[in-house]
Amino acid sequence: MFLNRNDKCWCGSGLKYKKCHMEFDEKIKKLKEQGYKVPTRRMIKSNKQIEGIRESAKINNGLLNIIGENIREGMSTEDINTLAHEYTISHGGIPADLNYDGYPKSICTSVNNVVCHGIPSEDVILKDGDIINVDATTMLNGYYSDASRMYEIGNVSEEAKKIVKITKECLYKGIESIKPWKSTLGDIAAAIQEHAESNGYSVVREFGGHGVGLAIHEEPFVCHYGKRGTGMILVPGMVFTIEPMINGGSHEIFINRDNGWTVFTADGELSAQWEHTLLVTETGVEIISK
Ligand code: MF3
Ligand code: CO
Ligand code: CO
Repeated sequence: MFLNRNDKCWCGSGLKYKKCHMEFDEKIKKLKEQGYKVPTRRMIKSNKQIEGIRESAKINNGLLNIIGENIREGMSTEDINTLAHEYTISHGGIPADLNYDGYPKSICTSVNNVVCHGIPSEDVILKDGDIINVDATTMLNGYYSDASRMYEIGNVSEEAKKIVKITKECLYKGIESIKPWKSTLGDIAAAIQEHAESNGYSVVREFGGHGVGLAIHEEPFVCHYGKRGTGMILVPGMVFTIEPMINGGSHEIFINRDNGWTVFTADGELSAQWEHTLLVTETGVEIISK
């Protein structure tokens, strides 16, 4: 789409192109000429969209906080699902996982050797020493946010504590690598992979982060292992998740054949995951899901 200086900007701000994304587009064009992979326009969120995603994230964060206050030994993962579902609905949001591709519940609850997409169940009772990831995606007024945290149940082993801690550090090292107009998706990946592997852990290959905001999963795919300087350059307005899944043993996984969702470590070792929704800004990065 060719726009003149005085046309309305493509981002929907209502401003003239020259006052809005004209300079931005020129920078993108230059980067492309230099050989960088650059984001498409759909990956660049307008201020209005960003505001909508922030509002959605407030509910999503509130939900993860409430779970933190209530989660304990003896609870089933179904109980956590009920708590999350009711919190979201009573705050005007919609649990976006529910019915997504046929997914049967409102959140994912992944205990110990479950890597991700654990399905809440009355049969899964939390016990002393468990570690569990709760992953929630909220939709509010058409805007999506996505985050997950690890919770420790009772007295957790040093081994389990360590993988929870290192995985959180992996997420933050990924976030800290983000430099607008400079760093790439490969820089995020490399930061995560180096930290995981230098601690004797491995990075799950099959799943990654993703663009988010107008849908639950958008482009780009955010790989958690890879090489610095490769992949798409990061520019202001991009909204995506980083959500490393780190295994205590090998990176290999298998998927439960009966439900088609739940992902386990192949060797039965522990796995941990933390996730944030992020916005690349002109000066750095904003953790929206905080
Ligand atoms: N919240 C998950 C993510 O981080 C998506 C879960 S999809 C579901 O991408 F269907 F499994 F819930
Ligand atoms: Co998620
Ligand atoms: Co996600």
